[in-house]
Amino acid sequence: MVYTRNRAKCSVFILIVLFLILLIENGVLCQSPVFACDIGKNPSLGSFGFCNSSLDIASRVSDLVQRLTLQEKIINLVDKAGAVSRLGIPSYEWWSEALHGVSYVGPGTKFSSVVPGATSFPQVILTAASFNASLFQAIGKVVSTEARAMYNVGLAGLTFWSPNVNIFRDPRWGRGQETPGEDPLLSSKYGAGYVRGLQETDNDPNRLKVAACCKHYTAYDVDNWKGIDRYHFNAVVNQQDLDDTYNVPFKSCVIDGNVASVMCSYNQVNGKPTCADPDLLSGVIRGEWKLNGYIVSDCDSVDVLYSSQHYTKTPEEAAAVSIKAGLDLDCGTFLSQHTEAAIKGGLVNVSDIDRAITNNFATLMRLGFFEGDPTKQPYGKLGPKDVCTPDHQELAREAARQGIVLLKNTAGSLPLSPTTIKSLAVIGPNANVTKTMIGNYEGTPCKYTTPLQGLTAVVPTLYSPGCANVACATAQVDDAKKIAAQADATILIVGIDLSIEAESLDRVDLLLPGQQTLLINEVVTASKGPVILVIMSGGGFDITFAKSNTKITSILWVGYPGEAGGAAIADVIFGYFNPSGRLPNTWYPQEFAEKVNMTNMNMRPDPATGYPGRTYRFYTGETIYEFGDGLSYSPFNHRLVKAPTLISVPLEEGHTCRSESCQSVQLVESHCQNLAFDIHLGVKNMGSMAGSHTVFLFSSPPNVHNSPKKHLLGFEKVHLTSQREELVKFRVDVCKDLSVVDEFGSRKVALGLHVLHVGDLKHPLSIMI
Ligand SMILES: *[C@@H]1O[C@H](CO)[C@@H](O)[C@H](O)[C@H]1NC(C)=O
Ligand SMILES: *[C@@H]1O[C@H](CO)[C@@H](O)[C@H](O)[C@H]1NC(C)=O
Ligand SMILES: *[C@@H]1O[C@H](CO)[C@@H](O)[C@H](O)[C@H]1NC(C)=O
Ligand SMILES: *[C@@H]1O[C@H](CO)[C@@H](O)[C@H](O)[C@H]1NC(C)=O
Ligand SMILES: *[C@@H]1O[C@H](CO)[C@@H](O)[C@H](O)[C@H]1NC(C)=O
Repeated sequence: MVYTRNRAKCSVFILIVLFLILLIENGVLCQSPVFACDIGKNPSLGSFGFCNSSLDIASRVSDLVQRLTLQEKIINLVDKAGAVSRLGIPSYEWWSEALHGVSYVGPGTKFSSVVPGATSFPQVILTAASFNASLFQAIGKVVSTEARAMYNVGLAGLTFWSPNVNIFRDPRWGRGQETPGEDPLLSSKYGAGYVRGLQETDNDPNRLKVAACCKHYTAYDVDNWKGIDRYHFNAVVNQQDLDDTYNVPFKSCVIDGNVASVMCSYNQVNGKPTCADPDLLSGVIRGEWKLNGYIVSDCDSVDVLYSSQHYTKTPEEAAAVSIKAGLDLDCGTFLSQHTEAAIKGGLVNVSDIDRAITNNFATLMRLGFFEGDPTKQPYGKLGPKDVCTPDHQELAREAARQGIVLLKNTAGSLPLSPTTIKSLAVIGPNANVTKTMIGNYEGTPCKYTTPLQGLTAVVPTLYSPGCANVACATAQVDDAKKIAAQADATILIVGIDLSIEAESLDRVDLLLPGQQTLLINEVVTASKGPVILVIMSGGGFDITFAKSNTKITSILWVGYPGEAGGAAIADVIFGYFNPSGRLPNTWYPQEFAEKVNMTNMNMRPDPATGYPGRTYRFYTGETIYEFGDGLSYSPFNHRLVKAPTLISVPLEEGHTCRSESCQSVQLVESHCQNLAFDIHLGVKNMGSMAGSHTVFLFSSPPNVHNSPKKHLLGFEKVHLTSQREELVKFRVDVCKDLSVVDEFGSRKVALGLHVLHVGDLKHPLSIMI
């Protein structure tokens, strides 16, 4: 904040200076520097190695670190990093957010009359439902362009603490909306794709457009459920679940996405706060995955582990234990307050502080922070004209269209024909909402198109909210029934918003809140035409009543569809777009919320206690809708063209499994290299309407090591015109894709019969030694 304010002040001065043609150096007018290494304005900086861009980043950072006093080092351990004016380094605010568009959450970014809003994409859970990996990256690329444009005019930082890749393992979680859903592969593809979109520059792989951050590591996902909150929650997680579920997207962020940062969470994992666990931080993120970047704490996490969790006796111990565990940056002020005393007390060495700030400065260097005026650098030409462009806003609408999931469609219901439907009754608490559509970690959008506005643009509408808000203590059914009885079709737009599911707010049940169910049932009985139920939410519901009511002819789930959500809903309802979204999470019955503790982190069922397990990979109970469910206006057919039935894995001489029988083998990397094969599928659009279709390749492994009943190996979205068939190819890597994680967290190839499935096709594949 200080940084941007000073820069604005300077700009005013610069204008005055130019206007009066006074050749006064800007440094004279501004106390604190505006840009680091602004050699043009301050030639004396040119002699510093850290300002010399022909040196490599490691040399520049080590030059900088050895010039700093201890106090100057310590002020660079926190998000509001202090200026080092004597070296020409301004202050920097690390905390900006860009979950689904540049956000005002976090002090590093703000909107002003210069940039009043940014493109607000659908909340992540809906974008994930598109199952379109190129879309994930395309959105990230637009967001980073808008972020850079805002940075150039002093309105944003360069370090964005997005995406959230926690596994959405319980439908009640208030932050599930921020995530790409319950599946480790989808979450990995989303995380890596979005990160690449944010970070990648055109040429230099070590340069960053902006820096992304995958959070919250790890096994988070309880916010506040029945009095148990994230600041006190100890997630008891076994090694198998950690390695085959919770950590998978983080690993992909680091290894496949090359993310510049990982954020540790508030909760404890097995009795240790994640931000103070050397195995999780130095061991896994930096050691095994080789993070090139910085590890940041969730905001005030270090304070929380001391003040709320009482994990250490003194604040100095908390500072020392987290830095030594591998934490580089504290969101908060705790480390700026307690690190010096921790060093004086011998609890942590200066070399540990040097490691932390080295990671932080290296990230800023990759971002060009030490290259002087950003407007003279790559991306320097981006400015307010590059935010909310028509193309960017069209992509927000396109993303919502691609994500919307058609869950039920009785023959002849959708799409509605704008020529035969002369009037629509639009009813429900979310029918004309604006802010609800963008969910949390939002920014100010360019503009909104509400569902009512989107539908009214196509046909004349009658509108009655029926419920004043989603909690809806008393539904006003009379007016709603009246318009439903008059109109040719009825669209009911219901669901929830941040008053029901949010950060620090988990749900306790899976039913539509308030009197929404009553409203729906009353409207349905009164309606003249077909009733289309549209559900706006992050998590799923038990809507058995609507599924089985034949007068409700269609059901759509639209997530929180972003700024253009209403236009996208209309596009789907009137058939201007053939729906192709698929559920990224299981919809459970209400009974699940009554029986299962949200705090139980186990993925696998436990027959002894009746615990049903979690997500499509393990859950054994009834569902309302399943992971991957979703209809189109066209049926699509799959045909197996090519797939092996037998794979032999090589083993070295003397491997124990050559003489004994083994259920699974751990393969060394060299043996994995040639163990990949192709699956070719013919996919045909059997309908009369062009559309996209996601091909899901699942595998059911043999039942060893409590393996998942099925898991997703790959997905590929194809666009097909009517009656067209295309070949879809999957490359399957046996070690990576067909392995399971054993009880100790080791990846092993299960021997025996794997059944591959695509739609209704099943294909047996034996893996033998
Ligand atoms: C910058 O580093 C290069 C490479 O070591 C060196 O040749 C050059 O003299 C340095 N520039 C300055 C101004 O010190
Ligand atoms: C500080 O560094 C020394 C030398 O490497 C080491 O022996 C000592 O354990 C370290 N102290 C702390 C508190 O980490
Ligand atoms: C719908 O919402 C928009 C945006 O808030 C508002 O301008 C409009 O008046 C609302 N329409 C009705 C009929 O209430
Ligand atoms: C749920 O948690 C509560 C409180 O920790 C505990 O008493 C109860 O036995 C748990 N129920 C189940 C089904 O695990
Ligand atoms: C995936 O998204 C991109 C970007 O919007 C779009 O161009 C492409 O057509 C989509 N792919 C499919 C198969 O729908």
